[in-house]
Amino acid sequence: MTTQIGVLQAIKHAIETTGTAALYITHDLAVVAQIADDIMVLRHGKTVEYGSARQIIEAPVETYTQALVNTNSLQKEQAADQSGAVLKIENISAKYSNGVTVLHDVSMHLPKGQTLAIVGESGSGKSTLARVVTGLLPPVQGSVTFDGQVLTPALKNRTKQDLRRLQLIYQMADTAMNPRQTVRQIIGRPLTFYEGLRGDAKTARVQELLDQIEMGKGFIDRYPAELSGGQKQRVAIARALAANPEVILCDEPTSALDPLVAEGILKLLMRLQKERELSYVFITHDIGIVRAIADSVAVMHKGKLVRFGPKSEVLSPPFDDYTNTLLKSVPEMRLGWLDETLGA
Ligand SMILES: Nc1ncnc2c1ncn2[C@@H]1O[C@H](COP(=O)(O)OP(=O)(O)OP(=O)(O)O)[C@@H](O)[C@H]1O
Ligand SMILES: [Mg+2]
Repeated sequence: MTTQIGVLQAIKHAIETTGTAALYITHDLAVVAQIADDIMVLRHGKTVEYGSARQIIEAPVETYTQALVNTNSLQKEQAADQSGAVLKIENISAKYSNGVTVLHDVSMHLPKGQTLAIVGESGSGKSTLARVVTGLLPPVQGSVTFDGQVLTPALKNRTKQDLRRLQLIYQMADTAMNPRQTVRQIIGRPLTFYEGLRGDAKTARVQELLDQIEMGKGFIDRYPAELSGGQKQRVAIARALAANPEVILCDEPTSALDPLVAEGILKLLMRLQKERELSYVFITHDIGIVRAIADSVAVMHKGKLVRFGPKSEVLSPPFDDYTNTLLKSVPEMRLGWLDETLGA
């Protein structure tokens, strides 16, 4: 979000100073509201609505445009009791093979059945922390505790049971699935690995999982390339669920999706959380998503933990400087927001 403001400012400046005309293509309506004179809304290759930025943002006529303007309306009531922890991250420092330390003494915890959001700008170390927790990158210092037991640092030394309990959903569903495998094989693999399911029993369970992620019949023999972005992400969720996990780490699972599809995925994750008492670590750039899903929030900056606490505390004043900058950088769905922010 902080990077995005700089980019928007540069584009706006370029248009104004050179008198160049611009077409800005995006799925973020709050962003175009800041720089566009006119807005065209497209869907399925057709124009849904076309008008001045003011009309589209303030008085959209079509139902689809209205839905776009009103996304981010999800709000989660924060869990009252945040004591206890299914996952505890303590004093983690980590570095890659080039020797540069990218995490410095990071600690946070996640109570059972709740959602911990990790926010912070690009490069702040969010994905690296997810790698440490899943054992892909053993830390140089600190420990990860699951349900009271310290996890072995390296993935290859973890027990099958440890692997099962902790699943990861990647930011890019495209690269997280084998393009040569069908949905049946992708979701079936953990069923065989963890539960020894084969044949008809396996197929029945795959179909059951597809039903749970609200993908009907007819998807089971498709390849990833035959699915939309949102459908691929649903399959990734089903694959994580197939392991019957207790904690799911979600690394920006909706950032590549349009806002309505993203909202559908968030609703699905929230429903599954209630039904299965799942706990989530949810990595995101998007403060709107934090408001929608989180119980507690960790703010990271340059590999360090800046703030950690219940959502209501972290997202309300008094703020530290960095959290304040992050919050002020979230585009609001109204005209003139960017000018006010830059003027201030
Ligand atoms: N494989 C790697 N080898 C060396 N350095 C890496 C590697 N992967 C990431 N880094 C560095 O580690 C730091 C943290 O990266 P990380 O991917 O954890 O950030 P992030 O917070 O997830 O960012 P984003 O929001 O863009 O996904 C960055 O400075 C990055 O350049
Ligand atoms: Mg990342």
